[in-house]
Parts: sequence; structure tokens; C-alpha cells
Amino acid sequence: MGILKGKTAIVTGGGTGIGLAIARRFCEEGAAVVICGRREDRLQAAAAGMTDGPGRVCAVRADVTVEEDIRRLIATAEEKTGRLDIVVNNAGVMRFGKLDEVDPAQWELLLKTNVWGPWRVMVAALPALRRAGGGSIINLSSIAGIKAFPATGLYCMSKAALQTLSQVMAMEAAPDKIRVNVICPALVEETELADPIFGREGVPQFYDTLRPLHPLGRNGRPADIAEAALFLASEQSSWVTGVLLSVDGGRHLATNRPVI
Ligand SMILES: NC(=O)c1ccc[n+]([C@@H]2O[C@H](COP(=O)([O-])OP(=O)(O)OC[C@H]3O[C@@H](n4cnc5c(N)ncnc54)[C@H](OP(=O)(O)O)[C@@H]3O)[C@@H](O)[C@H]2O)c1
Repeated sequence: MGILKGKTAIVTGGGTGIGLAIARRFCEEGAAVVICGRREDRLQAAAAGMTDGPGRVCAVRADVTVEEDIRRLIATAEEKTGRLDIVVNNAGVMRFGKLDEVDPAQWELLLKTNVWGPWRVMVAALPALRRAGGGSIINLSSIAGIKAFPATGLYCMSKAALQTLSQVMAMEAAPDKIRVNVICPALVEETELADPIFGREGVPQFYDTLRPLHPLGRNGRPADIAEAALFLASEQSSWVTGVLLSVDGGRHLATNRPVI
């Protein structure tokens, strides 16, 4: 307990799913955590559930596709806690559709949210991270940024772009002792990511279909990703930058054949 004591972290999309688990884990380890998202009710419920740990949490309604919101988010973190050490670019959206069928408007949605947002958040956070003497940026990609999945092309493309952007930033920010790493999960349950595609009621069947494709025999849980994020946020990874860390039950090794 307490390996993030004295640190301040921002977690975008911290009101639900993976971001919520990361924010909670960072709080347990003593960090002051600022979560953001667009839905006030999700943020308030998340913050209310994190009051008993040693860390502190603050919710800021902010959209990562809006530059002004990003600036306000970073400024709030520094104003409230006096510093910024960790930034988790977790906010993201997923949509399905074959490349010759998908609505072209989804190009804008996916690139703006999954790539432009993290880029602008990183850029806006750099001065504060420098003032803190260095820091850790963690970007949430996906196995979809590494492998080609049919009918998921624009999402794959957005996550692959985020990975490259992260690695360039890792090179550019290294002289300032700012590390930039990427987590690539496979299917993680208990999130809202697939709701717009399958509807809440259709999601369990989606989970059941993908479960056998993970060599370790189960889908992920938000807490699995939170543990990896904690490692990358902490001094325990002080000589790690620019990595694409697969946290995926071995899914990146697998073919589409179920384990038999
Ligand atoms: N679940 C998986 O299987 C899986 C696998 C691989 C990678 N990932 C990645 O993990 C990350 C977290 O996803 P999740 O699975 O936890 O899904 P989730 O529950 O849907 O979380 C996504 C969060 O992002 C926020 N968000 C979306 N657009 C935003 C915007 N423009 N500005 C601010 N916040 C925004 C959402 O809140 P609001 O709607 O209130 O803004 C939501 O809280 C995503 O980047 C996703 O691509 C997930």
C-alpha cells in the first residue's frame, strides 16, 4: 500500500470499466486521482465509491475531443494537488463494421476520440509533468492495434495509430524523464465498450463467444488492467518506456481456433 503516495494522476474515462478500476487502484496506493468523462452521473458514482482509501479522487466533466476541456482538466489537477505525475489516456470508443460497409462518419469519431484526444492530452500534460521532474503516461490501446480483426477495421486503425504516436512521444519526452507506455488488452468484461454495438442485453453473448479464444481460459477483468497500469505508473517501471504491454490472457499468441 502507498506506492503512489504523494503522486497525482489523471485517468480519462475514469467513470466506468477499465478507467474506473485504474482510478480505484491508484487511490488505494495513495494517489490523488482526477477522473474525467462526459457523463456527470457516471463520474459522481465512481467518485462516491472511492472515498475509503488513502488516496483522494476528484471528478471533472471533460470531453477529450475538446481542446478547452483538456486544458481545464490538466489545470484542475495541478490547481487541486499542486502537481501532476501520471496521465492515463483510457477514454475510448469502439464501433464495428466491414470497411466497405461502415459509415464514413465513424472515421472521425474513432480517430478524434482514440488518437487525437490522447495526443492533445499528452501535449497539454507535458509542462506539468516537467514541473514535477518527470512522470508516466499510460495509453490504452488494444490487441486490435496489433492484429487485424475483420469488421473492426477503423477501431484497429485508431489503436495502431495510438501505439505509434505513443512510441514517438516516448522518444521525444525521454530527456524530461517522462515515460510513455501502452497497454494492449484483449476482451475485458464489466465495461460499457461494446454496448453501442450489441446493446447491454447482447454483450454477455459476445463475451461468451470470445472467452475460448484466450489461452488462459477467461476474458479479462478491469482489475487485471489496473495492476499493469499500477506497474507502469510506479517507480517499479522506472527503466521502461515505449513498450506495448499485452495484458490479454495470451490472446496475442492465439489463432482463431478455440483451445481444445
Ligand atoms: N473492454 C475491452 O475489452 C477493451 C479491450 C481493449 C482495449 N480497451 C480500451 O480500454 C479503454 C477503456 O474502455 P472500457 O472497456 O473500460 O470501456 P468503457 O466502460 O466504455 O469506458 C470508456 C470510457 O471513456 C469515456 N469516454 C468516451 N469518449 C470520451 C470522450 N470523448 N471524452 C471523455 N471521455 C470519454 C466514457 O465515458 P463517457 O461516455 O461518459 O464520456 C467511458 O467512461 C478504451 O480505450 C478501450 O478502447 C478495452
